[in-house]
Amino acid sequence: MKLTRDERQFLDGKNGKAAKKAMEILVALGEIYGADRLLEVKSVQIAGVSYHNLGDAGLEFLEEMAEDGKSRVLATLNPAGMDIEDWKKMGITEEFASKQIAVVNAFTKMGVVPVLTCTPYHAGNRPLFGEHIAWSESSAVCYANSILGARTNREGGPSALAAALTGRTPNYGMHLEENRRPEVLIEVVCPLKTVPDFGALGFAIGKKIGNKIPYIRGVPRASEEQLKSLCASIATYGGTAMFHMEGITPEAEFAKAKIQKEKNKNEKIKITRADINDALASMNDVESIDVDLVSVGCPHSSIDEVREIAELLKVKNIITDFWISLSRAVKNEADKKGYSKIIEAAGAILACDTCIAVAPLKGRFKCLATNSAKACYYGRGNNNFKTHIGTLEQCIDAAVTGKWMVKT
Ligand code: F3S
Repeated sequence: MKLTRDERQFLDGKNGKAAKKAMEILVALGEIYGADRLLEVKSVQIAGVSYHNLGDAGLEFLEEMAEDGKSRVLATLNPAGMDIEDWKKMGITEEFASKQIAVVNAFTKMGVVPVLTCTPYHAGNRPLFGEHIAWSESSAVCYANSILGARTNREGGPSALAAALTGRTPNYGMHLEENRRPEVLIEVVCPLKTVPDFGALGFAIGKKIGNKIPYIRGVPRASEEQLKSLCASIATYGGTAMFHMEGITPEAEFAKAKIQKEKNKNEKIKITRADINDALASMNDVESIDVDLVSVGCPHSSIDEVREIAELLKVKNIITDFWISLSRAVKNEADKKGYSKIIEAAGAILACDTCIAVAPLKGRFKCLATNSAKACYYGRGNNNFKTHIGTLEQCIDAAVTGKWMVKT
């Protein structure tokens, strides 16, 4: 891989120990993936922030990097294992809290902004079309590539941190035009109405095509919340870093030309109402109807979602635990608009900086109700929860009654 003089200086240690190690990580990665050079990145988003996943070895690595490491570009953090300011309300132990705060402090010392959200595009880190970036949270990567038209591979925590400390990433994968071509044509032949429908679409496509890039046709319109949910589930259940959606995503026109040119070679898949219903049914554990945790905000809630939740929770009292995961930026806005007061009066928690996938919740709950296909995946995988997926209204009913009564 060809390096500039400036980049070689990183390897020579002229910019400090952490920057040297960061450049070594990037050069090794670039060589593995056949990159010809490094690219300058405009922004970085770093996952792997929860002490629950990092453990002491991860914390030690970060503290060592923080001795002289400094971020050279805008870099933001994914959710941590708890609300950094108000962790006691979540039943987090003192020991966990002190380690989690140490993790965030190490990042902050390196100049990484602790927005602690998987929707950095709602919290000041929103790249422009065509910009090269290095992001690591899978739903945010899919959103950045597909919806914003920025260019990022799905980085690991260490390679994203390395990109922050050098301002560089190797030129391969999703940074190259030829790797952003659609590989499969998906025809959606049924209407999709709700956020869970879009989560189920990502589930159904992801299971069928894995990490290939789909060109999706037949979805006339989609809201921001629906697209966010699709990005999260298609990346979780399949692993793709991007999709094109006819008439909706910014590179769809370019993708359409490719898909038409190669129409005989392309795999074609139809998604019917039966596929959506099967996906929803497989995320519902019908044998468990007693719900003890309701969680929305996966990916993190926008202010519009928080407003909708506040409207639905007015004059309601809930009997289950109820987490609304969101960034502190959105929480501050919700405080100003009076939504937080209504939500907290009903008995729900505004779970800032975190989510049920990265908080240490195993053993505390048995059955989760959510509007997110991705939350079902992590609720089951990380925490052994039984799960139910439904609309926001259905989740609120479950929080009020403690029961899941929706038939799928
Ligand atoms: Fe975000 Fe946690 Fe879901 S990081 S995408 S809320 S699993």
